Amino acid sequence: MTGAEAFRAAVARLTGAGVPDPARDARLLLAHALGVTPDRVMLALQDPLSEDAATLFDAALAARSARQPVSQITGRRHFWGRSFRVTRDVLDPRPETEGLIAEALRAPFSEVLDLGTGSGAILLTLLAERPLAQGLATDLSPAALAVAQANAATLGLGARARFAQGSWFDPVVGSFDLIVSNPPYISAAEMAGLSPEVLEWEPHLALTPGGDGLDAYRAIAAGAPAHLRPGGRLMVEIGPAQGADVAALFAAAGLAEIRVLPDFDGRDRVVAAIRPA
Ligand SMILES: C[S@@+](CC[C@H](N)C(=O)[O-])C[C@H]1O[C@@H](n2cnc3c(N)ncnc32)[C@H](O)[C@@H]1O
Repeated sequence: MTGAEAFRAAVARLTGAGVPDPARDARLLLAHALGVTPDRVMLALQDPLSEDAATLFDAALAARSARQPVSQITGRRHFWGRSFRVTRDVLDPRPETEGLIAEALRAPFSEVLDLGTGSGAILLTLLAERPLAQGLATDLSPAALAVAQANAATLGLGARARFAQGSWFDPVVGSFDLIVSNPPYISAAEMAGLSPEVLEWEPHLALTPGGDGLDAYRAIAAGAPAHLRPGGRLMVEIGPAQGADVAALFAAAGLAEIRVLPDFDGRDRVVAAIRPA
């Protein structure tokens, strides 16, 4: 069977499984099976598929038909120009989170804290972009922290990144000039409406704190002032309807210059504030 024949059969198989963008995913998974980057796949379409590649492609298509996300199948996700390892233990880093990176990079920082680091995408991107900065990443999940530590080593950032397991500020010692977080923020009521890719394959600890979805922000707002240097910045990713609630939590914690910022779709996505000097 040629690559082209395998590709056509794959699109039909994924379509039958209800996968939303079957041609895109078939291309990404064929690239994975062939061990080439997705932009090279078309060059291989006329060649016969090796037995190894065919076996790998079949397994990948079976997983995708069961609605496992492509990033978990390939084990990789691109974020702010770098490749991160992704497993079932971590949230698949989302493009929307790059808005938090852009906001964080608008001012200098030397010590950064990332609460709920998952794959480490936020902390490690910030350290890679600011070669003199140091950082601490926390997560409640030891399995997630192991993925983040592996990503730090692969990206050559192990010497500037520290990791601590525990709930929000519990394992945090010291103060920072930047605190960032993309915490779980989906309410219990919204969980049922998620796609199978998210609901069945991503860790629920990464998705929802339960209840109204705001508990992580309550903990972060309450603990941030004690760990922010005067003039230090706090910024969190939010769900599009949470701007006013999170801004109110930040105000009640004594934070100042509170701003709700939109993502590239124009939806509220980041709340930023500073600890007054
Ligand atoms: C939405 S994910 C974000 C992961 C990563 N920062 C990103 O943006 O891709 C939230 C993360 O918070 C972690 N988490 C959940 N509850 C926590 C808690 N009480 N304390 C610390 N981390 C927690 C989860 O394990 C998960 O890794």
